[in-house]
Amino acid sequence: MGGLTVRLADLDEVRALQLAVLRPDGPIPGDGPPPAGALHLGAFEGDVVVGAASILPAPWPGPGALPEPTWQLRSMVVRADRRGTGVGAAVLRLAEDTALRRGAAALWANARVGALAFYQRCGWAVVGEVWDKPFVGPHRFVTLVLSPSAPHLRRLHSA
Ligand SMILES: CC(C)(COP(=O)(O)OP(=O)(O)OC[C@H]1O[C@@H](n2cnc3c(N)ncnc32)[C@H](O)[C@@H]1OP(=O)(O)O)[C@@H](O)C(=O)NCCC(=O)NCCS
Repeated sequence: MGGLTVRLADLDEVRALQLAVLRPDGPIPGDGPPPAGALHLGAFEGDVVVGAASILPAPWPGPGALPEPTWQLRSMVVRADRRGTGVGAAVLRLAEDTALRRGAAALWANARVGALAFYQRCGWAVVGEVWDKPFVGPHRFVTLVLSPSAPHLRRLHSA
């Protein structure tokens, strides 16, 4: 993973990769422009984006309660030829730290079932039953309660 830079990014820097990974056949009904107010994170090898995610304040739609305010993680992607090398975890860690610094108390996401193990390996909880997102497939909610005392966030804060 040498030469990887993970940082806040402009939408223009990450959108093409997010769409290529998540919408390989083009938009689906209900797709719209990315929400205003979202922050974008990218992992870069030089100028080339290899991983990305977006975060924004959003109410928790799932079962049970989460500490508020809640933020949503969206469009978490890694370029296919870089998966399994820690890029996704690095982007997710920056997303968590950025949300925490901006005042979020918890993060949630609509996770494809194929990505659940990734979130769990990164310390997130899987919540609720499987539900189907039309044109995409089965999903579950994943959540993370943000605490500055979490080991990786503590590391970032003392950096
Ligand atoms: C899900 C995704 C973002 C993960 O990114 P990644 O860079 O491959 O993940 P990492 O290499 O950082 O993996 C972090 C940990 O999760 C584990 N992991 C990642 N993907 C996994 C999978 N599909 N199944 C099991 N474990 C997985 C890794 O083994 C690693 O575990 P470790 O800490 O024990 O080594 C990437 O596979 C992807 O873009 N998938 C397609 C798009 C997608 O489904 N996005 C999520 C939408 S909800």
